[in-house]
Amino acid sequence: MLVGDMKRILAGIVCVIGLGSSAAAQDITQLEKISSVASFTKTEKAITFDCQDHSQVRLTVLAPDLIRIRAAFAKALPANDHSWAIAKDDWNTPRWILSEMADSIVVSTDEVEIIVHRSPLLIEFRDARTHEVINVDEQPMAYDAKGTLAGMMFDSNAGMFVAASKTLGFDEHFYGLGEKAARLDKRRERFINWNSDTPGYTEGKDPIYQTIPFYLGLQHGNAYGIFFDNSYRSYFDFGHSSQQRAWFGAEGGEMSYYFFYGPSMKKILSRYAELTGHMPMPPMWALGNQQSRWSYYPDTTVEEVARQYRERDLPLDVIHLDIDYMQAYRVFTFDTKRFPKPKDLSEKLGKQGVKIVAIVDPGVKYQPSVPINISRGRSPSNPELDPQDRRYYVFDDGLSHNYFQRRKSGELFIPKVWPGDSVFVDYSLPEARRWWGDLHRAYLDNGIAGIWNDMNEPSDFVDQTGKNQTDVVSYDEGENSTHAKNRNVFALLEARATYDGLERLQPNKRPYVITRAGYAGIQRYSTMWTGDTNSSWESLALNIPMFTTLGLSGEPFVGSDVGGFIGRGNGELLVRAYQISFLAPFCRNHKVIDGYDQEPWRFGKYYEDIIRKYLKLRYQLLPFLYTSLEEAHRTGVPLFRPLVLNYQEDPNTYNLDDEFMVGKDLLVAPVQRPEIMQRLVYLPKGVWYDYWTNKKYQGGTMIRVDAPLETVPMFVRAGAIIPLGPQMNYVGEKSFNPLTFEIYPDDDGSAATTLYEDDGVSPAYQRGVFRRTIIDVKRAKTGYVVNIAAPTGNYNPGPREFSFVINSSPTPKFVRIADEGRGRTIEIR
Ligand code: GLC
Repeated sequence: MLVGDMKRILAGIVCVIGLGSSAAAQDITQLEKISSVASFTKTEKAITFDCQDHSQVRLTVLAPDLIRIRAAFAKALPANDHSWAIAKDDWNTPRWILSEMADSIVVSTDEVEIIVHRSPLLIEFRDARTHEVINVDEQPMAYDAKGTLAGMMFDSNAGMFVAASKTLGFDEHFYGLGEKAARLDKRRERFINWNSDTPGYTEGKDPIYQTIPFYLGLQHGNAYGIFFDNSYRSYFDFGHSSQQRAWFGAEGGEMSYYFFYGPSMKKILSRYAELTGHMPMPPMWALGNQQSRWSYYPDTTVEEVARQYRERDLPLDVIHLDIDYMQAYRVFTFDTKRFPKPKDLSEKLGKQGVKIVAIVDPGVKYQPSVPINISRGRSPSNPELDPQDRRYYVFDDGLSHNYFQRRKSGELFIPKVWPGDSVFVDYSLPEARRWWGDLHRAYLDNGIAGIWNDMNEPSDFVDQTGKNQTDVVSYDEGENSTHAKNRNVFALLEARATYDGLERLQPNKRPYVITRAGYAGIQRYSTMWTGDTNSSWESLALNIPMFTTLGLSGEPFVGSDVGGFIGRGNGELLVRAYQISFLAPFCRNHKVIDGYDQEPWRFGKYYEDIIRKYLKLRYQLLPFLYTSLEEAHRTGVPLFRPLVLNYQEDPNTYNLDDEFMVGKDLLVAPVQRPEIMQRLVYLPKGVWYDYWTNKKYQGGTMIRVDAPLETVPMFVRAGAIIPLGPQMNYVGEKSFNPLTFEIYPDDDGSAATTLYEDDGVSPAYQRGVFRRTIIDVKRAKTGYVVNIAAPTGNYNPGPREFSFVINSSPTPKFVRIADEGRGRTIEIR
């Protein structure tokens, strides 16, 4: 055996032993590097470099702060350039110039300067104004020409490994990458993207459900972003395997990435939203409290849950129906005994302000049609088969149209999921997506208000890794590509089919979809939750880093099963979980089938009373949350934020992930460990008010605060105005009347906010039917002057009152006026 072979085998063994299936030990220095530039051509938008080894590299200027790099190794770039993630490809080319130097070619926009070194071919990004280096290749882009990594690849037929490597900054921090069971700052870590069903995951488990190959780098207060738009199994290493480099690569597909320059993280997130799509506004009730269980049945149990909520004066907007509502797990059916009249149920619940969201898994029961008289062959004690047991229309229709996934051989791919043998739809087929979307009529006709897409990694009980699916083919825009390319986009396309279907079937209502898996762009179609967590303190401590990381990855509408999904929780854990999730966009208590009951009242009155306090506060804060949600929709900047997003100049925030902010005004420091009644809180520079006492703190330091179980430490930024509505138990129970503006003046006596409102249900906001009201406050000689600007937009919320409360002292000053929908100035003395 040659020494080289031995080394390779040893490397393989190390992978198997040390990393299991998540082998990320690829040594990218061994790969073939793209050779030097031989010549280049320029068009209005791009420069294409022809390399000595016949590779091609294209640099496209999309915006002054957005550059795309695309490379084909030892061949010309293919004409086909399709990505499911991209929402916008018609960019107006900004001003840019090209300068040719002896050793390099320099492209300059108003914001970024890209130096392409000819030999070796290294790409360097600099700030166009300061010329400071932001990001630079550590080695030329590389590919596995010799199949060095073939044995280490998950699917050796996937394609050729491609990689790009960047010099790791001595003080560089990394954020994003979507759903990762990891801390906020990803420096020195490495990750794999391969959508995986990972129940009971704990910190460090990787990969889990989603793939968002987008990250932010931050050094010296300047941020950049990289979106590696490659749906194959991909790898990101932020200085884990070497002190020198941060690299990314994939087991096939193109080296194609987008480089975003900030320097502000918020600006990058806005561009990312422009490129991959904005989250549409969900209905306002999606911000309401939600309750779920695997599974509530029969229908009377669902009614009882709603009744308990109302009787106990606990707010609730949604109950979820998990898989047992179906007839033998057949999607688009209702069990005729457990839910004989789903429409009546949704109407009954609707009268109490409660909506139903139903789970829809991608696994369609494999059920070839059988003659009606099959019942003769059955046991005489069960002669009557339900119609769905005789013939399953979804299977029949899908099969006759050839919408189901097949293996390369042409055989149907038959995974095992909840219904047993099942089939998956090829959602990359446009007509299959349309068909799937239309099937949702079965739910809408029964008053179901939203759809929960689960198991869409896609999970297959035969083999969760995807090995059982490697030869499954997807249409993929005519490419007929295999699983290696399509797994990570399966959920994106399913959610797209669902969202588009709901939109088509109910054009006057905003669709509400929740997904478990996803790929970049998923925010266009769906909200998400973080899958099967544990009812444990360790799992709870992942909430803040995961929600904030998802927000930094283009997914603003996130949440986790409140109280944890698997295992046995307790009252204290549940309360602490609500003290985080009452401000998360998605607030849903959910529990596994054999888990301990954990509805808010299950651990006794003491805990229930505290949970009520936070749920009530969530509903009062709806005007504030909704305004922040609209900002996320419009700008891509999430509402649930890590402090670094608001204070990126402050290194104290770089790995701070046990506190979070909602928008830019509210800072929350929950307790995430048992029996802790005090904690340290970092307050960034500026003045902060304790939300509960109005006590003022000077920021830029750590403070120690009391945090008994009843109280989550919460602070308001001086200069903020927080709009609140009345207490209510479901969205729409009352109008926002009076609207109370809690004013927290800064040292100069100023405060300001912008309130966003619309009808909360229809897509009319997209046509300008909203109202935006700017309110600012200044200190005057004898009190404060409140200026309400004339609102913009065409939405009219009707007559109501505005209350203003100046919270500058423990005895707030207060004034109430009628809102006449016009600008005016008032004084508070
Ligand atoms: C998956 C989901 C979980 C659901 C269960 C049954 O484990 O993640 O939320 O309750 O399937 O549908």
